[in-house]
Amino acid sequence: MPLIKLEDVSKLYGFGDATTLALDEVSLSIDKGEFVAVMGPSGSGKSTLLNVLGLLDRPTNGTYRLQNRLVDRLSQSRAAKLRRDTIGFIFQSYNLLPKLTVLENVALPLTYKGIGATKRFKQASQILERVGMQNREYYYPYQLSGGQIQCAAIARALVNDPSIIIADEPTGNLDSAGSRLVMELLSEIHKMGNTIIFVTHNPELTKYATRVVYMRDGMIIEDEPTMIGEVAKTVRRRLYTQPRMTAEDDLMGVSLLMKAVPDKAVSKSSSSKRTKSKKGTTSRRKRRYQKVKST
Ligand SMILES: Nc1ncnc2c1ncn2[C@@H]1O[C@H](COP(=O)(O)OP(=O)(O)O)[C@@H](O)[C@H]1O
Ligand SMILES: [Mg+2]
Repeated sequence: MPLIKLEDVSKLYGFGDATTLALDEVSLSIDKGEFVAVMGPSGSGKSTLLNVLGLLDRPTNGTYRLQNRLVDRLSQSRAAKLRRDTIGFIFQSYNLLPKLTVLENVALPLTYKGIGATKRFKQASQILERVGMQNREYYYPYQLSGGQIQCAAIARALVNDPSIIIADEPTGNLDSAGSRLVMELLSEIHKMGNTIIFVTHNPELTKYATRVVYMRDGMIIEDEPTMIGEVAKTVRRRLYTQPRMTAEDDLMGVSLLMKAVPDKAVSKSSSSKRTKSKKGTTSRRKRRYQKVKST
């Protein structure tokens, strides 16, 4: 039984002419213990997918089963509770509170659970030790490097002991040393039996993953199991021979990669049902591109 199971999940934003189809009948199963990298150009629906998986957002259509429980129609408060107990989030921009110490930041989620201060700080301290930040407990975020801030954010995501970690471009603002620090830490968390889903624009970071999912236009167009320690085959085939130095180069690489994915792969992932039912798709898409162009 998969841990996560999306079936034909679509997500629409906006109304009427301003409608954006952010997810287009996405089906995806993720087992416990997978380490999934989500890639794809900007606007392809990666964040929307993660937000739906993380119960921050509801699908417009389709079903979502989490631990075999139907969760796509949960009330806000039930979703919030399930999220708190099951899922840890890490975002690209550091969301540590600047006026709190690292320890206070990490202990914050426990406040919402009504746990007393002494116990809270003890637990936070243990987690900080686990992520190698024990000697930074009383630092303020501005006194840390980007990589350390992200490690503290990971500690905070772990403090409720979630089994699923969702990370939207966790290394997006980091240099290569910071990225390595964060990815090594996520690897450790993965080895402890957690399921991790992360978005990256950096093909090199697929080395850490056990599976790479490529998105375009709200659809999953490639889904490739990968070996830990190896860059995903599709990525390697297209990019590995070209040295890439900057984040911008990485982005370029990804958009090249997206263009390079053969149409075959796209039609392979489309079921015959999809082709039959897709009459309205072109106009919907066109509308979206027009909207993007005009902004
Ligand atoms: N809250 C929102 N309201 C309206 N449109 C949105 C919203 N969030 C995302 N979108 C649109 O949905 C599409 C997918 O966005 P997103 O999931 O953020 O892509 P990615 O993370 O791959 O860059 C984009 O066209 C984006 O503009
Ligand atoms: Mg995004």
